[in-house]
Amino acid sequence: MTLLEECPSQSFREACIPVLETKRLTLRAPLLEDAKAVAALVNDRRIAENVARIPHPYRKADAESFIAGANKPDGEAVFLITLRDETIIGACGLTMQDKEQAPELGYWLGVEHWGQGYATEALHAVIDYAFADLGHAALSAAARVTNPKSRRVLEKCGFQWTGVGLCRIRAINSSAPVDRFRLERGIWLALKTWGRMKKVS
Ligand SMILES: CC(C)(COP(=O)(O)OP(=O)(O)OC[C@H]1O[C@@H](n2cnc3c(N)ncnc32)[C@H](O)[C@@H]1OP(=O)(O)O)[C@@H](O)C(=O)NCCC(=O)NCCS
Repeated sequence: MTLLEECPSQSFREACIPVLETKRLTLRAPLLEDAKAVAALVNDRRIAENVARIPHPYRKADAESFIAGANKPDGEAVFLITLRDETIIGACGLTMQDKEQAPELGYWLGVEHWGQGYATEALHAVIDYAFADLGHAALSAAARVTNPKSRRVLEKCGFQWTGVGLCRIRAINSSAPVDRFRLERGIWLALKTWGRMKKVS
């Protein structure tokens, strides 16, 4: 992953997040003009039922409001995940909780893009950014107990299971059991240094 540039202008709204590059992907801030493509990808129950705050059905207006609220100062850092040809395939981000708590990593990919290692590749870049550029000491994440793909992605990124809990899932209008995970900066650096992680970025 390379840090290509700092946000150059107002186009990335009030707060800047960088453009991150991996071997196959570019991660960048979402723009309002992306709303239609985002809505087309997200409007799938298989995504909504596995994340906390995505409604289903998911309309263009939902995407516009998601994008308008992204990357505010001290708010959620949100990246769209795109292929080299600029096709949008998903999103990921860091929800800043209160200062005492580790930011939470969230992510989804359009279903047609599952199973190609893209989520793991994108998260490696965001984790590097969170530790190296933002200086966080640890990150957290949660996955529904019925979501082994997400659990596997977190394991491949070095996250360690810390326990179970309940999470409100908007699309099912209910709470569901989740596995909770944590990644310490020291562990991430050690895993990278020792080359114990699958080489994806
Ligand atoms: C979870 C999600 C992001 C994964 O994206 P992806 O790009 O397919 O993930 P990757 O290809 O990087 O890795 C998936 C891993 O899960 C594994 N996997 C797939 N199905 C599995 C299953 N049923 N049980 C266990 N592992 C499984 C894959 O084999 C792969 O691991 P491997 O590389 O060791 O073979 C995607 O499925 C998604 O967007 N789901 C809906 C939203 C969501 O769940 N977000 C996460 C919220 S916590």
